[in-house]
Amino acid sequence: MGIKYIKNELFIEQISAVKLAELCDTPTYVYSKKLILNNFNSYKKAFNNDIVCYAVKANSNQTLLEILSNLGAGADIVSGGELFKVLRAGINPQKIVYSGVGKTAEEIKYALESNILMFNVESYEELCAINKIAKQMNKKARIAFRVNPNVDPDTHKYIATGKHGTKFGIKYEDAIDMYISASKMANIEIIGIDTHIGSQILKIEPYKLAALKISKLIDKLESLNIHLKYIDIGGGLGIKYEKNQKPPKPIELKKAVMSVFGKYKDKTLIVEPGRSIIGNTGVMLGKVIYRKKSGNKNFLIVDIGMNDLIRPTLYDAYHNILPVKKTSKKPITLDIVGPICESGDFIAKDRKFPLLEQGDLIAVECIGAYGSAMSSQYNSRKRSRGIIVDGKKVIHIRRRDEFEDLLRLEENLEKYL
Ligand code: LLP
Repeated sequence: MGIKYIKNELFIEQISAVKLAELCDTPTYVYSKKLILNNFNSYKKAFNNDIVCYAVKANSNQTLLEILSNLGAGADIVSGGELFKVLRAGINPQKIVYSGVGKTAEEIKYALESNILMFNVESYEELCAINKIAKQMNKKARIAFRVNPNVDPDTHKYIATGKHGTKFGIKYEDAIDMYISASKMANIEIIGIDTHIGSQILKIEPYKLAALKISKLIDKLESLNIHLKYIDIGGGLGIKYEKNQKPPKPIELKKAVMSVFGKYKDKTLIVEPGRSIIGNTGVMLGKVIYRKKSGNKNFLIVDIGMNDLIRPTLYDAYHNILPVKKTSKKPITLDIVGPICESGDFIAKDRKFPLLEQGDLIAVECIGAYGSAMSSQYNSRKRSRGIIVDGKKVIHIRRRDEFEDLLRLEENLEKYL
């Protein structure tokens, strides 16, 4: 379903990848609409009385946001830019939560004007800033504290957030004092508690451990007459990048947290999935430019650079790569690298893969999340096109940059001074 070989050729839904490459050129991010709907619906089904806030940072394409908005998604945002985009996509402000350690005064004001559901507050100074700005605007800001439960999510260190010593959240031991301070602030309305322990999490246990710790805080707060309406459990469910990985399903996450939070009948859960909504729905189509041997090493030089997909470089991430046309060539050990001028520019190292020919097409799997979203114009490369395949239909969701786009922000500057 979605992305598979039919006979010996890779298909995205009902269109062959060869045809897509002819139509769109390479490199191109290609997503399956069916997979997007499936992923979102499995959250919607599992979290049926709750709010599913899509973590926009995973992929903020406007058409994608509109699709999710039409399915009833809320949004977890981390910047004014994301707020702008989700409002444009028609997402209900009462389903928007605002995370992040560095919200600026301008962003706080914009979120208050937009009447979002709540700020997930990460420090005392941020709390004071929100209270002050809300006062100037004659408003009450709804908040939750993002609590750092000091739980190890067992993931790459750059995307682990739930342990003490990271910049995220309020230290667990300080949380109650923070709530007490907030309860005395005139322009703050406490409505929730939040935690987010990390990303690409492949086990349920860390979520349960975090829930148990959060639940202790909720009980303590109730005894202090501080009542919460929302429990935000964050995002982070992993996806299957490698064959041996078996990520938990949304329903398993729901069951695990409900075994702890089920007793709170008056509270609504919020969940903030990003990667598990969009990660496995897309491949990046690319093509072999050259083959090369250096020392004992074989290289396939392809037209996908680290500017298109930085995950292998940044997190040592594994992305499976498929030849678009199955080949009888035996796999050998080689590096698949991009055209960018640094050795960090690779998609796969020491991978068993057939030594394809110049012009042959490849598909890099699971690029839906943090692929296009983290892309850049590094080496003055044009950022890539994006398409969604819906059955036999191609929906164009992002054009490829043109050379003029490389200049656009750097000319006619007079009026900006
Ligand atoms: N909520 C908050 C507060 C977050 O910081 C994140 C992700 C999410 C939700 C969504 O997490 P997800 O469900 O997507 O795992 N660029 C990295 C991932 C960074 C994740 C940052 N925070 C990567 O490519 O692996």
